[in-house]
Amino acid sequence: MTGTVGLVGVKDKQIEEFVRLAGMRPLMLQAEDLASARGALSATPDVVVVDVRADRNLLTIVAAIKRRHPSMGIAIVVPSLEPDLMLQAMRAGVTECVAEPLTQGTLEAAISRVMVQRAAPVEGRVFAVIGAKGGVGATTIAVNLAEAIARTAGDALLVDLNVSTGDAAVFLGVDPRFTIVDALENTPRLDEAFFRSLVAHTPSGLDLLGSSVRMLAGPVEPQRVRTLIDFAVRYYRAVVLDVPRGDPSALDALEAASSIFVVVNHELPTLSSAYRVVSRLRQKYGSDRISLLVNRSDRHSDISISDIEKAVNAKVKHVFPSEYKRALAAANHGQPLARSTDGRVAGSFHEFVRMLTGPEKPSDDTKRLFGWLNPRRSQAE
Ligand SMILES: Nc1ncnc2c1ncn2[C@@H]1O[C@H](COP(=O)(O)OP(=O)(O)OP(=O)(O)O)[C@@H](O)[C@H]1O
Ligand SMILES: [Mg+2]
Repeated sequence: MTGTVGLVGVKDKQIEEFVRLAGMRPLMLQAEDLASARGALSATPDVVVVDVRADRNLLTIVAAIKRRHPSMGIAIVVPSLEPDLMLQAMRAGVTECVAEPLTQGTLEAAISRVMVQRAAPVEGRVFAVIGAKGGVGATTIAVNLAEAIARTAGDALLVDLNVSTGDAAVFLGVDPRFTIVDALENTPRLDEAFFRSLVAHTPSGLDLLGSSVRMLAGPVEPQRVRTLIDFAVRYYRAVVLDVPRGDPSALDALEAASSIFVVVNHELPTLSSAYRVVSRLRQKYGSDRISLLVNRSDRHSDISISDIEKAVNAKVKHVFPSEYKRALAAANHGQPLARSTDGRVAGSFHEFVRMLTGPEKPSDDTKRLFGWLNPRRSQAE
């Protein structure tokens, strides 16, 4: 192997030696060099190894490094593969964990896995969210699903497919400079650098391709929407789409979606509209990927969850409680509910993401994190 390995928190001379023996150049770094905007780097490392054995707080620095360098692969050295520590590492955006006893073989294998993953785009999963009726909570769910994934996995992209009427940016408290209109107008010349310059960043690692006040010149072409989704999914662990139910160009461009969620509540007019939306989606994409999300659940409603399933002829995947004050405050402050774990709705979003992603405990292949977000490796669903 060739390349530079940044070493953070490494006091163990052996690690430097192992890196050299692997044919790579070790570069001792201060965490701040990578994590802070003021940090200066003499060379950008291909991989960063953070030794958290002496100082677990370095894991918080990992999250900051990932925010500044989203595509940088990070391996950490840990005393043992304890589930708590692994979970924390996963949330921070770590790609590989190497446990004691540390050998040249284990370190070299971890570094090469990080290098491979860095070279290959991540191929994330695509979740589409469609409201069965106006105001049912589709954007709230799309924003918070994306936020909860980003908090768990380290990154995610939310795409507001309401090209010139969307409000996802307001829910996230950002004012994007570029928007989906810029992306759709330029699909033929999309490359990673250009694409990354179009998205707006948020503190959790969630990026947004937001709606525009500018209209697109001409109708939205489904082929362009498809190209955009296929492109985005290569660079994020997950892509969440806020899909307008009345726009055929968006509804016809969801082939890449692994799950299509139709949002309903306990109202009959919504369910009748949901039936039509689901029937149309089913004709195009089959039944397996389509399910319902019940928002603002009401246990006392005349219409039960099983009535909803019968009326719409689709399964309910998750039920979100109603919490009017918190939802309103979150929207007014541009702070998505899932940015914290306070409150029933926020808790429900994190629970939903846990359900989508499978158990959070490390699998047999304990060193390989995030298998759940990669369709080629997924065993969770
Ligand atoms: N679980 C919930 N509990 C209480 N209020 C909620 C909940 N989910 C959403 N809301 C509130 O409902 C309103 C509509 O939500 P949202 O904008 O997400 O709906 P939408 O389906 O995207 O609407 P549109 O059709 O305009 O796109 C917002 O004020 C939001 O704060
Ligand atoms: Mg909306």
